[in-house]
Amino acid sequence: MKGIVLAGGLGTRLYPLTKITNKHLLPVYDKPMIYYPIQCLVNAGITDIQIVTGGNSAGHFLQLLGNGADFGLKDLNYTFQQGEGGIADALKLAENFADGEDIAVVLGDNIIEGSIRKPVEDFAKQGKGAKILLKEVSDPERFGVATVDEQGKVVRIVEKPKEPESNKAVIGIYMYDAEVFDIVRTLKPSGRGELEITDVNNAYIQRGTMTADVLKGWWTDAGTFDSLLRASNLVAESGANRQDL
Ligand code: G1P
Repeated sequence: MKGIVLAGGLGTRLYPLTKITNKHLLPVYDKPMIYYPIQCLVNAGITDIQIVTGGNSAGHFLQLLGNGADFGLKDLNYTFQQGEGGIADALKLAENFADGEDIAVVLGDNIIEGSIRKPVEDFAKQGKGAKILLKEVSDPERFGVATVDEQGKVVRIVEKPKEPESNKAVIGIYMYDAEVFDIVRTLKPSGRGELEITDVNNAYIQRGTMTADVLKGWWTDAGTFDSLLRASNLVAESGANRQDL
């Protein structure tokens, strides 16, 4: 399985912190934000990784990360997202790198306490389709929200619903087979003018090939002032990407 870290976008919710730099270069406790999603993939045994960046200071990723020596990697791959097309648009750029293999996609501002090794292994056995990870939150209206039936199957996901049907947020770590790139080509921009990852996930639900696990340990995004502060506090208190969880 190959790993993709999506680290583009303009980070407008963090303005002026992101006026001249990229959101994913901002500090989360003692490391730049982008370190956490990369470590998350490496801890799950995924060492063939591409960073999709864009927006401000895109060149700084190369200076900061180089060939990935801080993570024990031999090399890292980079690609550049022109403009602000959304998460699914950024994913398009990973098609050549994926080269027909399964991929694990991590949003560059998502940080977890534990490991995704088990879900990654389970997805490898699944053989086709997709897998998402869910976490109960107190503010589901900020996220993609999953409605899950009695058998634990996800029946639909709604992006940032005003009246959420559940408190189960879809976290920004997704596993896909190679069909994902065909699905992305069928998408139309949403109301906010972006290609939505939630539309990709709903396409897999329609096909009946989506599975979902509940993530163990805490999870947070870091794309708003409050969540950026929370991310630093959580990492300071209990560490991130722990291998014992
Ligand atoms: C994105 C996704 C959303 C997901 C979230 C996780 O939201 O669109 O479905 O729950 O990441 O962090 P965004 O950060 O683009 O608002």
